[in-house]
Amino acid sequence: MEFSIKHNTPESARGACQVITVGQARKLSSNGQRVDKACKGFLSSILKSGDMDGRPGQTLLLPSVPGLATQRLLLVGCGKDSDMNERNYTRVINAIVSALANSGARDAEFYPDDIKLKGRDLAWKIRHAALTLGNSGYQFNQLKSGKAERPRGLRKLAFNVARGDAEKARSAIEQASAISAGMSLARDLGNLPANVCTPSHLAKTARQLARGEKRMRVNVLDEADMKRLKMGSLLSVSAGSRQPAKLIVLEYRGAAAKEQPVALVGKGVTFDTGGISLKPGAAMDEMKFDMCGAASVLGTLKAVNQLQLPINVVGIVPATENMPDGQATKPGDIVTSMSGQTIEILNTDAEGRLILCDALTYAGKFKPASVIDIATLTGAAIVALGKVPSAVLGNNRGLIEDLIRCGRQIEDKIWELPLWDEYQDQLKSNFADMANIGGRDAGTITAACFLSRFTKDYKWAHLDIAGTAWKSGEDKGATGRPVPLLTQYILSQVKQ
Ligand code: BES
Ligand code: MN
Ligand code: ZN
Repeated sequence: MEFSIKHNTPESARGACQVITVGQARKLSSNGQRVDKACKGFLSSILKSGDMDGRPGQTLLLPSVPGLATQRLLLVGCGKDSDMNERNYTRVINAIVSALANSGARDAEFYPDDIKLKGRDLAWKIRHAALTLGNSGYQFNQLKSGKAERPRGLRKLAFNVARGDAEKARSAIEQASAISAGMSLARDLGNLPANVCTPSHLAKTARQLARGEKRMRVNVLDEADMKRLKMGSLLSVSAGSRQPAKLIVLEYRGAAAKEQPVALVGKGVTFDTGGISLKPGAAMDEMKFDMCGAASVLGTLKAVNQLQLPINVVGIVPATENMPDGQATKPGDIVTSMSGQTIEILNTDAEGRLILCDALTYAGKFKPASVIDIATLTGAAIVALGKVPSAVLGNNRGLIEDLIRCGRQIEDKIWELPLWDEYQDQLKSNFADMANIGGRDAGTITAACFLSRFTKDYKWAHLDIAGTAWKSGEDKGATGRPVPLLTQYILSQVKQ
């Protein structure tokens, strides 16, 4: 999707389609009223006929309206001003896409000032519309042999704003395009099957991202490097796999070397069978999505680089498969993590935390300003919160609150679960410093408790994205979350 900015008057527009909003009780927006005048009351007569009453998301496409140069008008219902909220606004934007999907209109012009949305300014409305549209055009058909369908429908949207708002609009579009590009990358990586998207494929993708980019650098550690670093916990997960594990370090340097980086650590389990604690067969294919944390890290770095933000960011991705095998780690095995702490692996399916703990210890080397790990870590996160927000836990109030605020700002919601000390007792082991599981209760919290033992030296937050990184069922596929949240957080950390 392409976006542009226009300043013409609504009655003089010439393009393929003008989008005119209609409020509750057939109330035309102020731009709508001007257009109505230019076509001598044609719009009001149509609204009187009852074909369109202004309910949110309702649409009516009018070809060749007499007296107007534009080829079409699209009337879109927006409901009462007081009913307009983020969800209804998204509905309105999606309604525009579906109304034009089977029309001949490739481009349209839209007046964001016509929609009043409490607490959201013009830049927000433009950014959110551009992001929604960018996402709605996503397709994944690289592995279908048939000729790709020519995409129909909307390809270009112009935002018509006052001349004085052009700069604001431009930067909103830039942000949306960068975040969209990052989300598309994350979705592609998530959707790729595990026989294609291996740890080596993730490493190759990181190298491709950095190629030719002055501010990016990649370093990929192999298993021998990890052994030297004493990453016994990470290596215990890859032990049963024929695909070699990789620890991918992708750095973006947009600020002076002395500026402490934001570190993003993403779980990159390219397939999670559960290992010797084998998962049941139903829907096991979805465990190809177990690298969506890693994908969101690469996607966010892509967005940050596209925006050329003046900040330092380091992405760290422990990437491995989790497979059963003669060499695989067995329940009861005890390993020593890079931190020196020993872990009794009571369940080989709790592997995410085992790779993250060593990656988090490694992250400390970068003297990070803050560390955020992102992981499809626990099914319990879906039990606790469903598929609406990601779960957030951490060791620093300010960081958690910043993240919650950023999530609200970009509509990529997160919800905090308590990381209280009382839960730590569940990780007790009779034979090692800790066990890797904490029993049935509060699974998302005990997973975070485990990680908290490796993140004491810095400000840290953990995002459990098990419920939000992909959709199941008919719309099965990666969502690209939480690239918007992470990019918004990095935007918020740029020093003015
Ligand atoms: N990748 C899974 C978590 C997961 C499961 C995400 C289902 C999304 C949907 C993770 O590695 C895992 O298997 N976690 C176990 C932990 C348990 C053994 C303590 C889980 O959630 O069952
Ligand atoms: Mn698992
Ligand atoms: Zn997993």
